[in-house]
Amino acid sequence: MEVATANMGDVWRLPEQQQQQQAPCLETTTTTGEGKARGLVASVKKTATQEEGEEEERGSKRLRTSPTSPSSPPRGRSPEGPPRGASPEGPPPRGASPEGPPPRGASPEGPPPPSVDKAAGHKVVVTGSTGGKSSSLEGGRSVPADLPWVNLLKIGQGTYGEVYKARPGPERREQGAIVALKRLLIRDDWGFPVTSVRERKILLALQHPNLHPNLVRLYEMYQPSPESEDVYMVFEFLELDLEIIIQSPAVRKLDVPRVKSFMQQLLEGTDYMHRRYAVMHRDLKPSNLLVSRTGDLKICDFGLARTYQSGRSYTIPVITLNYRPPELLLDCRKYGPPVDLWSCGCIFAELLERKIAIPGRTDVEYLENIWKLCGPPEPWPEAKRVCPKWQTVTDDLADKGLERSVRSRFAAADELAAPLVDKFLRLAPSSRISAERALDDDYFWSGVPALPAEDRALEWDVEMVRAARDDQQRSRRR
Ligand SMILES: Nc1ncnc2c1ncn2[C@@H]1O[C@H](COP(=O)(O)OP(=O)(O)O)[C@@H](O)[C@H]1O
Ligand SMILES: [Mg+2]
Repeated sequence: MEVATANMGDVWRLPEQQQQQQAPCLETTTTTGEGKARGLVASVKKTATQEEGEEEERGSKRLRTSPTSPSSPPRGRSPEGPPRGASPEGPPPRGASPEGPPPRGASPEGPPPPSVDKAAGHKVVVTGSTGGKSSSLEGGRSVPADLPWVNLLKIGQGTYGEVYKARPGPERREQGAIVALKRLLIRDDWGFPVTSVRERKILLALQHPNLHPNLVRLYEMYQPSPESEDVYMVFEFLELDLEIIIQSPAVRKLDVPRVKSFMQQLLEGTDYMHRRYAVMHRDLKPSNLLVSRTGDLKICDFGLARTYQSGRSYTIPVITLNYRPPELLLDCRKYGPPVDLWSCGCIFAELLERKIAIPGRTDVEYLENIWKLCGPPEPWPEAKRVCPKWQTVTDDLADKGLERSVRSRFAAADELAAPLVDKFLRLAPSSRISAERALDDDYFWSGVPALPAEDRALEWDVEMVRAARDDQQRSRRR
């Protein structure tokens, strides 16, 4: 481990070679900090849990080899080669199925593929500074005056922190023109919040030089001083998120190629998390999908993400209510990646209709709306073992004459999209389509193609889109 000392304090940087090997190893990245980062790393150590995956299941069967629309094949299905971020040897191992053994997620023996794209390489650093002076910030809490970023502008208020748009100062030129700073709220009696620890662990694991294009890039973790209550996560900046786009009156229409492009990118990122790193995101929703003015979509907010292993139990208050799958509402603790695919279905449906697909302000209300839309649950052989409530509730529903109306409802918005929505919104998790199979679905391979990567810049003015959404929200609050 190389520990460099700079004027601003001790800086921990991994040499590029080491980082390539270590970044995907959760344990290594969370237990090897030195210098000023020690306080932060120590608290990571305290909360870190062993989440190793099981045996990697290798396989490279391709579901389909050539697109029906050669002008715009889904990324990753290109006959020219693997997607950016994928292994140069071929597709990553299979194993996202809840029944089958998952791929080795964050195994120390399983480093990422060697870098084939030097330009995409970058360092994630944990930095500290000796600064401590505070200056106030309009509309926010005070921030230290001598941060290495300037012109902070608050752009988001999340559950666990504030997000600022900022300009890197001279010490951070390599981070480009603009970054997003996520300032984590640290409470004295809590120490570093567990969700932030997770977010950092998982993001570091996913940030190897061949970072997948549909996952947000983390440049740095910054703690102004070891005693500081603040920690900043420094991300690449993207102008919008999908919630803003869906809600903004400045976006008159989301046409089919655009919806396809968003869904394809969401599924590419999800597939990569699931199969290559055995990570469940557990909070996929439009506001956690960032969108750049060039039309790129990136998954962010890994605060609830974690690695999974077949047969293990997990906590259930995860996933924002209107994107939460029925098994979680019915107390299933042995869940797996299909939870994210339910959320993908809700996001897809929301893109089609520009409104929340399954409303509900309480668990009960939401669950009732699920039954109304999805009808009686399909048999789920594992239910008795992993989700006792499932059987009771679904037996009760059997004679209520419920009818599934997913296809007919969404066909009104897009006839060709409805069958795929139907495959995501399956009540039994084992019947739900995987991200890999969804990418191979006819929806992406027939009809109008998705916007190609080189031609998907947003057709709307991003500032207007954001301002129109904000105006609308303000007038609704009045
Ligand atoms: N890298 C980024 N670039 C631009 N905006 C961002 C970025 N990261 C987050 N945001 C904005 O801030 C909001 C909250 O960030 P998020 O990471 O989701 O925090 P939380 O865990 O508090 O929800 C997002 O919904 C998005 O609008
Ligand atoms: Mg969020």
